[in-house]
Amino acid sequence: MSTDDLDGVHPAWLPPEAFRAIAARQVRVAGTGPLVETVRAEVTRAGATIAEDAELVLGFAGEVGSLGDEGFALSRRDGVTTVLADAPAGLLYGFFHVVRLGEAAFTGDRPVERHVPAMRRRMLDHWDHVDVHPVMGQVERGYSGGSIFWRAGAARDLARVRAYARLLAAVGINAISVNNVNVHATEAKLLTERLGDVAAIADVLRPYGIRVHLSVNFAAPVILGGLPTADPLDEGVRAWWAEATRRVYEAIPDFGGYVVKADSEGQPGPFGYGRSHGDGANALADALAPFGGVVHWRAFVYNHRQDWRDRSTDRARAAYDHFAPLDGQFRDNAILQVKYGPIDFQTREPISPVIAAMPATAVAVELQVTQEYTGQQRHACYLGPMWSAILGFPLTEAADVAGLAKEVVAVSNVGDDPFWTGHPLAQANLYAFGRLAWDPALDPVSILDEWIDVTLGTEVDREALHAILDDSWRTYESYTAPLGVGFMVRPGHHYGPDVDGYEYTPWGTYHFADRDGVGVDRTRATGTGFTGQYPEPWSDVYESLERCPDELLLFFHHVPYGHVLRNGSTVIQHIYDTHFAGAERTVEMRRLWERLAGQVDAGLDTRVRERLDEQVRSAAEWRDQVNTYFYRKSGVPDAKGRRIY
Ligand code: GCU
Repeated sequence: MSTDDLDGVHPAWLPPEAFRAIAARQVRVAGTGPLVETVRAEVTRAGATIAEDAELVLGFAGEVGSLGDEGFALSRRDGVTTVLADAPAGLLYGFFHVVRLGEAAFTGDRPVERHVPAMRRRMLDHWDHVDVHPVMGQVERGYSGGSIFWRAGAARDLARVRAYARLLAAVGINAISVNNVNVHATEAKLLTERLGDVAAIADVLRPYGIRVHLSVNFAAPVILGGLPTADPLDEGVRAWWAEATRRVYEAIPDFGGYVVKADSEGQPGPFGYGRSHGDGANALADALAPFGGVVHWRAFVYNHRQDWRDRSTDRARAAYDHFAPLDGQFRDNAILQVKYGPIDFQTREPISPVIAAMPATAVAVELQVTQEYTGQQRHACYLGPMWSAILGFPLTEAADVAGLAKEVVAVSNVGDDPFWTGHPLAQANLYAFGRLAWDPALDPVSILDEWIDVTLGTEVDREALHAILDDSWRTYESYTAPLGVGFMVRPGHHYGPDVDGYEYTPWGTYHFADRDGVGVDRTRATGTGFTGQYPEPWSDVYESLERCPDELLLFFHHVPYGHVLRNGSTVIQHIYDTHFAGAERTVEMRRLWERLAGQVDAGLDTRVRERLDEQVRSAAEWRDQVNTYFYRKSGVPDAKGRRIY
């Protein structure tokens, strides 16, 4: 198991076998420049011969209409497969598309197909620290070892970063931020005295069409510059940002921009100076604008010091309440980065209403590839179907989420683990994110098929893999968080069940279970009024007990345990049934994996088995704690008489 230049590191979706169809062929690559050289190097590395008389031609021409900076057109006629692009990045993406197709790219005729990314920027946020954090480790919410970018004291071995860049380019990712949104003392200095480390990473990513972004601390003018204030309207502060940014571009001419978590979970922000988030975002946007950079300003702003006794505060409302009134006030190069749901990357949430509420603002939808709340890469949980449902959700009458968003961003699940993602099957999530960011209309099951082909080969038992993964997100939901109730996790690390873990904490998002019922009343009629933040029809659909989809019932309504769901079951029986079925399903997943024995790399097999054992154990724990909790609260026995404690 190794990539050709990294011993002991799994090649993920770029093993030598993935290039087999290209290896035997003659290839012509037109043009010059760094990205074209990358394509040529990839062709040679694949074992193909660069030649004039070729069976694969990668070149430039405008005959198929505009393909933009990154699009390409693929066709095949008279035994020649042709990739045409308007710009070098298109050739790179076209080349990797041919890799994905394998032999199929060289069989029969193929009419011209245009491939143009739906989103201009397809970005991964790494929540990596330079220093190992005493509680979070080196990667916050990271389940794949340490950072591939940093080690205390110096930038890491860049060969690993190069291998990562290839993997990302192969799925169309073109931007990454290289440090955590919670910017601590050492990491703040990446903007100034440690800028060289960032530039070294940028140099490695550039040949693969990936631009580097940096998370910065809003109080940097104070922390790093020694100014008395970080007030975004203060002239000295603005001058400080302008000068710091100029230096960044001197070192990294194609620097992408800043990511900012402000006034959120203890991070400093404009509220500290009596300013709005528009003022804050625009100050940084103005510093970046002369160089073509952008600021990703996160909308994850809520009161994390609330009083659980206070029923009027609803964390779900917070982002909309803070940001919707600011629509139209952000600069063009300020991108509001909104988590897909109103709470925090839960297994099931409604779509954040902010995404529809700010038509005059560039919005990026933020997803979480790292499985903070979906099993922490110990549970197999393929998130493609979840993201596909999110991006395709018809939030307004005119557009789905992908249509409303300008970009899609996700928190990475990668670390220095030999399999990149801890759980080898979690590689499929990283792969699927890239593919869906390129084309949100792709079918997640077909994406999984692609991943299996290139990563595990075309000979493996794909039926077993589909049976394990296709529904694994819904399975995870069934034994952890049915009916839209979230956050029943252990506080702090967020792994494993703890039904009341957050119920009396200052962080909000409670389930309000008592002896009679469960759920959060977020209606306008009797609850927090959150349903009113949605456009029609959702505002009425979610308000209505009859029309609200079962899967979100307890997110929007507090109901008695005997409430009959649209699926005919009662709430309490549904809780029991889904928890028994979900845990049982994990046993079946483990059994299905047995069929892969001998078909996959031995190290990978061992790792997956260990994780499936843990998933089975953990799912049983979830089942028993959740069922027991609700049985003790409600006193309602399981209609099927199964064991509850
Ligand atoms: C979650 C996560 C934090 C993270 C935060 C964020 O709350 O648990 O670790 O910092 O999201 O998105 O900023």
